[in-house]
Amino acid sequence: MKIAIGADHGGFLLKTELSQWLQEKGYQIQDYGAKQFCDSDDYPDFATPVGKAVAQGKTQRGIIICGSGVGACVAANKIRGVRACICHDTFSARQGVEHDNINVLCLGARIVGISLTKELVSAFLEAAFSGEERHRRRLEKVIKLEMDYCEGKN
Ligand code: RB5
Repeated sequence: MKIAIGADHGGFLLKTELSQWLQEKGYQIQDYGAKQFCDSDDYPDFATPVGKAVAQGKTQRGIIICGSGVGACVAANKIRGVRACICHDTFSARQGVEHDNINVLCLGARIVGISLTKELVSAFLEAAFSGEERHRRRLEKVIKLEMDYCEGKN
């Protein structure tokens, strides 16, 4: 599986450690930066290319890390086709994919450490959308909201 990954200064160290671990597990990592630590960089500059990679189908999933996960999540969800969520518990990381078909996981490196991060990322990457009728129906309603927004209807 191909994974797009990105982080600002708040998530830089966790991204480095996580990327290495994911590569050891056999995932293909597309790193959208930051490529070096810079304490004044901005999370939208990394959330945007990760979100676009997922939305354009270049990678199957995305992971964005900032200090809290909040800014990364807000920015990524502005990209059409992205369903990003902060999940700091494994239940949400798994069910968010199974029920809501999230495709980007956002993490706050000032909240979670590497051990929990590995568990969260495993739950996210190993889960698949269930495809059950009720979940498809709800997803279609969310997609319609997004389309209406793009067309200036809401
Ligand atoms: C950067 O200091 C911090 O504000 C950012 O990483 C993130 O937590 C924003 O949501």
